[in-house]
Amino acid sequence: MNKDFEFRQLLRAYRSGVISEATFESEMKSFENGAHSNGSGGFEAFGRRYASEREAVVKFLEAVSPAETAGGVAVRAWLEVCQTDCIRGGLMMVAERESYHGRAFAARLKELGGNATQQMSEESRKNIEYLRNPNISDYDKLHRGAKRFPNPAETIRPLFEFAELLKEDLQTKEMVKLFAQDELSTLKWQNALCAALTDAQGTQRRAA
Ligand SMILES: [Fe+2]
Repeated sequence: MNKDFEFRQLLRAYRSGVISEATFESEMKSFENGAHSNGSGGFEAFGRRYASEREAVVKFLEAVSPAETAGGVAVRAWLEVCQTDCIRGGLMMVAERESYHGRAFAARLKELGGNATQQMSEESRKNIEYLRNPNISDYDKLHRGAKRFPNPAETIRPLFEFAELLKEDLQTKEMVKLFAQDELSTLKWQNALCAALTDAQGTQRRAA
């Protein structure tokens, strides 16, 4: 397995949640240990070494752009069948975020001479099928997401760290910072609403 492949897989896994909690934690540790630049001309981020900062940026954009675009499609698929007002409100905002992340990162990649392949991964396709299923409740879909990322700050930390590492490409650096803020906001919203709905269900059950 080469480095690029591993990097793409990890980002896809982060987006669609297919990696186990244990794997995710060990990857977090490797981010922590490996995410620093060095003086030898190479560049390290996400626990991987790249020939240059530019190479790391291009690989990042190549992985994130299609994943975010697919995220937008997935959230819209859920919106088509979503019947819960409070969840609908959040999904309408999150769908826009995901799609604009995909567009903005694709545009940046193009500026750097790369090309965003908008091919959808198998994981993304499965996620879309799950979310557009009208027989699964909105609460279950929200709960699945909240359970997958119980600690939003820890989940998003590698993105903030990556932004901090960028010293040459100040344009991408600021894009990644705002992207990380958006993703953090989305995960916090998901967890807070899920907790509120879980509490409300408990209250209803006690009152019954
Ligand atoms: Fe996203």
